[in-house]
Amino acid sequence: MKLDSTQKYNGSKIYEGSKNDQLETFRSNHTNQKLTTNQAVKVTNTDDSLKAGNRGPTLMEDFHFREKLTHFDHERIPERVVHARGFGVHGYFQVYESMKEYTKAKFLQNPSIKTPVFVRFSTVVGSRGSADTVRDARGFATKFYTEDGNYDLVGNNIPVFFIQDAIKFPDVVHALKPEPHNEIPQASAAHDTFWDFVVNTPETAHMIMWLLSDRAIPRSFRMMEGFGVNTFRFVNAEGKGRFVKFHWKPLLGVHSLVWDEAQKLAGKDPDYHRRDIWDAINMGEFPEYELGV
Ligand code: HEM
Repeated sequence: MKLDSTQKYNGSKIYEGSKNDQLETFRSNHTNQKLTTNQAVKVTNTDDSLKAGNRGPTLMEDFHFREKLTHFDHERIPERVVHARGFGVHGYFQVYESMKEYTKAKFLQNPSIKTPVFVRFSTVVGSRGSADTVRDARGFATKFYTEDGNYDLVGNNIPVFFIQDAIKFPDVVHALKPEPHNEIPQASAAHDTFWDFVVNTPETAHMIMWLLSDRAIPRSFRMMEGFGVNTFRFVNAEGKGRFVKFHWKPLLGVHSLVWDEAQKLAGKDPDYHRRDIWDAINMGEFPEYELGV
């Protein structure tokens, strides 16, 4: 998989494969088009509103003004409960050799097809505006736009998980999020409610060892592994099933920050990880990962 952000909405066709033709319908290019309201009424600008005389109040009959403010008032969608802080990048996936023996999934059959992907990297605990370099697990979620339909592979950069039984997920997340009485701390596991959960939940021990290791402070999204965590099932055309795990391996290798660097960066450049991948792609240094099964 190569992340090069070339699937921008620029109307140009980049990769082979019929999925790209389908996606074309959703790409639009607004260059040289007239400025309009949402109802397609042409407007010369979007800076002036209708007033009652030179110094009068703004008039409710100015539908363009009301549309602009109403739109603005509704721009926010509720923040995600977990993985609120994330950054997405376009790219493509290409299989080295056909996986036909193991699966009938279309995008794993033909090494000459480039399947468009969108990958979202995220932290887990912090709010949407929190710092990138906090000690936390990272999400590594890949959406493959395959010819059979979209295939989502969510991953974390840590191969195990806090809990075995999904019913404890609300509890581990409540414990990780800021304390209820003072809303402290942001984007961090180092506080009482979390440690209370840990001591009462022995199955967290393995993930805690990972969380307190260097893996929880990656140097870059480009130098981070991804793990499907769960076990999945491949089914081939004959209907034979096999259990599989998914691992993403960055070609740049796995690298981490040290704790002191991570803490300083969180203050000096809270956008450190998103800036790193943005700058790398703009310089033509496209991150690459191998998917191991
Ligand atoms: C019982 C266990 C789990 C529950 C209930 C759960 C629940 C959730 C929820 C509610 C979201 C937010 C969705 C949204 O608002 O957009 C989410 C996102 C996510 N989860 Fe989990 N999760 C669980 C386990 C896992 C595991 C084991 C992994 C690692 C493979 C994982 C990886 C992710 C990732 C990467 C995202 C962000 C996806 C994105 O970037 O859009 N989760 N999860």
